[in-house]
Amino acid sequence: METLIKSGSIITASESFTADILIENEIIKSIGQDLKIGPDGVIINAEGLNVLPGGVDVHTHFDLPMFNTVSSDDHYTGHKAAAFGGTTTVMDFISQDDEDLIKNVNNWHRKADDKAAVDYGFHMNISKFNDRVAKELPLLQKEGINSLKVFTAYNDRLRLMDGEIYQVMRIAKENNLLVMVHAENGDVIDYLVKKALSEGKTTPEWHALTRPSLGSVESVYRVISLAEQTGAPVYIVHMNTKGGVDHVRNARQSGLPVMGETCPQYMFFTEEDLKREDGTKWVCSPPMRSKEDNAGIWRAVMDGTVQVMATDHCPFYYDGTKPIEYEGQMIAILGKELGKDDFTKIPNGLPGVGDRLLVLWTYGVVSGKISANQFVELTSTNPAKIFGLYPKKGTLMPGSDADITIWDPDKEIIFGTKFSKQRTDYNLYEGWKLKGTIEKVFLRGNLIVDGSEWLGKKGMGEYINCKDISIL
Ligand code: URP
Ligand code: ZN
Ligand code: ZN
Repeated sequence: METLIKSGSIITASESFTADILIENEIIKSIGQDLKIGPDGVIINAEGLNVLPGGVDVHTHFDLPMFNTVSSDDHYTGHKAAAFGGTTTVMDFISQDDEDLIKNVNNWHRKADDKAAVDYGFHMNISKFNDRVAKELPLLQKEGINSLKVFTAYNDRLRLMDGEIYQVMRIAKENNLLVMVHAENGDVIDYLVKKALSEGKTTPEWHALTRPSLGSVESVYRVISLAEQTGAPVYIVHMNTKGGVDHVRNARQSGLPVMGETCPQYMFFTEEDLKREDGTKWVCSPPMRSKEDNAGIWRAVMDGTVQVMATDHCPFYYDGTKPIEYEGQMIAILGKELGKDDFTKIPNGLPGVGDRLLVLWTYGVVSGKISANQFVELTSTNPAKIFGLYPKKGTLMPGSDADITIWDPDKEIIFGTKFSKQRTDYNLYEGWKLKGTIEKVFLRGNLIVDGSEWLGKKGMGEYINCKDISIL
């Protein structure tokens, strides 16, 4: 099966030019001028349209159990939402529910494999550490997993102690694994949460007020120091403070293998949003910060201190007692209302997998903050390179998977739940005016999104065995 995308404005991380792309058997066969196709092939005229590599979102939580519910997108609905938002590869975090690491991996495959609608890989959470886990960490590579997430917060649930993180980093260094860190100060949070509750402070803003930004800044510095002591590279997930990215910038300037990821929510929203009547919608961890932090994150995105724009997609309904229609069925999944009287019971996490590219295009590229090439670098090429998916994913070149998005750069829309296909009842960017829409999405040469039409299928997404990690 051949497809020819004709005369599109191709944008990669390094260049922009007008050319044709010939796809054969799911792979990009050639890119050039006046390419020819056989009589049975499909021709798509992309004149005046932008042609970009499919987005790579390396931070999602589909079907993640939390408190008395589960994140409301599973590995099908979340993948479909990703596709409509131009993302064709996702990486999800495996929960460590069992000491036997491979058992956890198999458990995540059981959740994902039959549902997957875009290509996907996994990271492994390490939230319990002992001799057995230490021995099993290198076994993950045979499963195609080269990245581990550790937490300096979520005491008594997910957190590892500093000495344990140090040991994980030593093993990671020996085995070429990448340690990803959720950086906040768990002890300070624990104390402040107990104090707030004892004083009857239960509204959503207390979620942010009990998770101070300086705890995150300090924790970023701490894990950079642990990384320096062990020689292991480190990747800080969902960066959210100016002070945190300043530490990453300094570390990188000193030549340390330190990388950073952020997500759009930390560039647009502040803890003030949690004070709104519907403030639970903005509850995620780490929380929203200040305007100065927003600006600091933008600067880090613009100057390359942060290499990756992901989403931390972990959606919950705002009101999970009310069903919404999804593919012809009415579905209700308990959500943020669980914590309406107690901020510690609000499931933490936000929708975003389908919003990331559209929002960043308007507010990053159209606004002139970043170039279109930087946009591709942040949202597709860099994450693919870091996590060993490149050049299969993350670029447009002969031999790469034909994961391609075709954009109309001039079309303006009013964004929100009507556009975004995330399975939840709200959108953080409801009513935002966006310029630039995604018209067609190809996954390995298969057209899966055509305007508002969904042509993808459950199970067509392929698991990716990640190759070696790279340090950018
Ligand atoms: O609030 C969030 N981000 N929930 C997902 C888990 C995590 O820490 O990334
Ligand atoms: Zn996290
Ligand atoms: Zn996360």
